Amino acid sequence: MKVAIFGLGYVGFTAACCISSQGHHTVGVDVSDAKLADINSGIAPFQEPGLTELMQKALKDGLLSATKSPPEALSGADLAIVCVGTPSGPSGAHDMAHVADVSRQIAQAMLTLPDQRITVSFRSTMRPGSMRNLIAPIFRGVMGPDWRDRVELVYNPEFLREAQAIHDYFHPPKIVVGTWDGKPSAPMEELHKGVDAPTFLTHFEEAELTKFVDNSWHATKVAFANEIGRVCQRLGIDASAVHKIFVSDTKLNISSYYTRPGGAFGGSCLPKDVRALQFIATDAGINAPMLDSLLRSNEAHKNHQFDEVRRRLPNGGKVLLAGLAFKAGTDDLRESPNVDLARKLLENGYSLRIFDPNLEPVRLRGQNLGYAYSNLPTIDELLIPLAEADAESWDLIIVNNATGNALNLSDKPVMNTHTL
Ligand SMILES: NC(=O)c1ccc[n+]([C@@H]2O[C@H](COP(=O)([O-])OP(=O)(O)OC[C@H]3O[C@@H](n4cnc5c(N)ncnc54)[C@H](O)[C@@H]3O)[C@@H](O)[C@H]2O)c1
Repeated sequence: MKVAIFGLGYVGFTAACCISSQGHHTVGVDVSDAKLADINSGIAPFQEPGLTELMQKALKDGLLSATKSPPEALSGADLAIVCVGTPSGPSGAHDMAHVADVSRQIAQAMLTLPDQRITVSFRSTMRPGSMRNLIAPIFRGVMGPDWRDRVELVYNPEFLREAQAIHDYFHPPKIVVGTWDGKPSAPMEELHKGVDAPTFLTHFEEAELTKFVDNSWHATKVAFANEIGRVCQRLGIDASAVHKIFVSDTKLNISSYYTRPGGAFGGSCLPKDVRALQFIATDAGINAPMLDSLLRSNEAHKNHQFDEVRRRLPNGGKVLLAGLAFKAGTDDLRESPNVDLARKLLENGYSLRIFDPNLEPVRLRGQNLGYAYSNLPTIDELLIPLAEADAESWDLIIVNNATGNALNLSDKPVMNTHTL
């Protein structure tokens, strides 16, 4: 293919060198005269291991060049890849000026190339909705209503890490291709030929959000690790030994477990032990804002779940809650978010019944008994058996966990809280 790459920074120039090393004819475009002069005289515009060698080979093979002219780069190109910067703006949102400029330049160049079709793949990190609500309207505005006959838009986030960018380009953790309808794009398939990674075809918005989720998760991991590390250091505990034990658990700790958006956490251990670790940190004089935020975040999620019910039934109604314990298969009600939801529903005038076959109030004991009755004093009247739950008509059935599997839910109004 002929590939035009817009923005010859860390992402764009690395991609240009890697793509040309696969035998594609690559033309880079940048607004910086200094960068263009460097590249055209065989000097890499920034430090990245292995890049100079890759660049010099591509220049020697005649597969790489750089220009300031979008029409020159786009003429005869099958694919354009946009890698311009999206720095922080004053509000914290990305400054999209470079993305908007380059979109307009590509669209204007396409007016001068009337016989050409092209795929334009965006790699710059940008907020969900940018492809559909910012970039597509720019193309439509410049090229007219039939612009999609000649331009295919794709969003393809980049996952490379600087200092190992070349290795990461050929061995990414995943390939994500976002399009209007989640269908494949032939030039993108050609581009990724030979790159072995799980591939996800999805809509623009999911692809756009991917990078934010990834980077925020990585930041979360670092912040969490350092809060634990600070506590260890202050208490004279070997943080490396704790880390080694922590990461050895690939079942519950370093795994996909506990990462699916859905129910709030609860039960007899998580809230209690998070609270106690907050105390341990504070007692040791350690500021641990992330640990401090966990219970508040969990409360926010419980409120959100209740708000979702209110949005569905703003004027009250008849609600069945399937699953009261914090998970199916137990009768442990301690700090169950579902008890909290039941209480909020009752306080707000909803007519509530609960189906949870694991619960027999007469068999509740100790703290569990106390928690149940202090939070839901009418629990005995609220619980109903399966036959009644299936026979009654409900304005909403809230399924909190696998308890809902026992119910006949077909054609009934259901809200899931355990999978968003
Ligand atoms: N750096 C990384 O490791 C990394 C990894 C993944 C994703 N990203 C994302 O990729 C994007 C690019 O990041 P980067 O670090 O390569 O940025 P960068 O600032 O190093 O490079 C951007 C380049 O775009 C050029 N440019 C600006 N306007 C232009 C225009 N109209 N036409 C042509 N070129 C233009 C600039 O001169 C600059 O050379 C950002 O959105 C970033 O968030 C970066």
